Amino acid sequence: MIKFVDLKQQYNSIRDEVRKAIDGVLESTSYILGQQLSDFENEFARFCNAKHCIGLNTGTSALHLALLAKGIGKGDEVLTTPNTFFATCEAISYTGATPKFADIDEDTYNMDAEKLKKAITPKTKAIIPVDLYGQPADMSEILEIARKNNLSVIEDACQAHGAEHHKKKVPIADIGCFSFYPAKNLGAYGEGGAIVTNDKESDELIRAYRDHGQIKKHVHKHIGYNYRLEELQAAVLRVKLKHLDEWIEMRRKNAKIYDEMLEDCDVARPVERNYNKHVYHLYVIRAKQRQKLMEHLNSKGVQTAIHYPTPIHLQEAYSFLGHERGSFPVAEKCVDEIISLPMYPELKQEEIELVAKSIKEFTK
Ligand SMILES: Cc1ncc(COP(=O)(O)O)c(C=O)c1O
Repeated sequence: MIKFVDLKQQYNSIRDEVRKAIDGVLESTSYILGQQLSDFENEFARFCNAKHCIGLNTGTSALHLALLAKGIGKGDEVLTTPNTFFATCEAISYTGATPKFADIDEDTYNMDAEKLKKAITPKTKAIIPVDLYGQPADMSEILEIARKNNLSVIEDACQAHGAEHHKKKVPIADIGCFSFYPAKNLGAYGEGGAIVTNDKESDELIRAYRDHGQIKKHVHKHIGYNYRLEELQAAVLRVKLKHLDEWIEMRRKNAKIYDEMLEDCDVARPVERNYNKHVYHLYVIRAKQRQKLMEHLNSKGVQTAIHYPTPIHLQEAYSFLGHERGSFPVAEKCVDEIISLPMYPELKQEEIELVAKSIKEFTK
């Protein structure tokens, strides 16, 4: 069986380091807002070449607080992509703002900057581009559009730790959100998330918001949340962060093998823009007979997945927005054809070859 993701292999490779780190937290009996968290925040900010990192309990909370830090609320519209994990949109709703969508680019599956331009209205206050599957969105163009229209940009980099755009690490926007959900390229052993920003004011506000609005003990300047990243998770993340560059290179090497082996197959391979560095959180192809291909792969012992089968505008929870099939045709077409193939750093060349060979067999 070739698993879609295999976290056990990664755990085996860092078992001693990670157990020592967890033990250290248990011995310290400091579980919340301690040294592990502040060390992780410094280290992850440095990894992103940014000034500040605020550790949070989830990527969803990161999106929520980033929107609040930019003053988004009721009456505002926030533009995002219909082809993303549900949480991107949900966070907009948490603030009372209304989510709006711009269709995607068929090659990268990321927000199409031209469509974005057309979707801006007088009520638009912010944009959330998503660096989907590990490839940065068209951030230079999006930031330029935002600048001309006086809009905030909150980058959803939840799938893209370490990705680059024009040789700069994400987030490219001055505020970006990460998830450390276990299967992410940098994953905790439970929930985790962070905001990375160069903006001092946002940093201070988010630090207060994540801890019940406190600016110091028992001084609650705001009504905030309990969105703190735990010491145990920060300690795990510190161990894993040391390996992240190597794991990214392993993912890229695996993607290259897939690319080469699938070259003459009737499937669309991922398109990595020449100004981007894709970190292949997911390796997503497109095939016309998606369901049958997935069944064929399954019969060969290859696990696959779909990220994501329903675009957000067609989810029942957002039916109140009034979108119908046909509203965002590119996203709708892509979600019917995409398949995520097995992808993780430790995947072996023979396994990738077997997956690719099985795809070839089917498409012939
Ligand atoms: C694009 C995207 N945005 C937001 C999230 C939410 O992150 P979390 O699951 O940590 O809340 C995720 C991860 O699941 C994601 O992939």
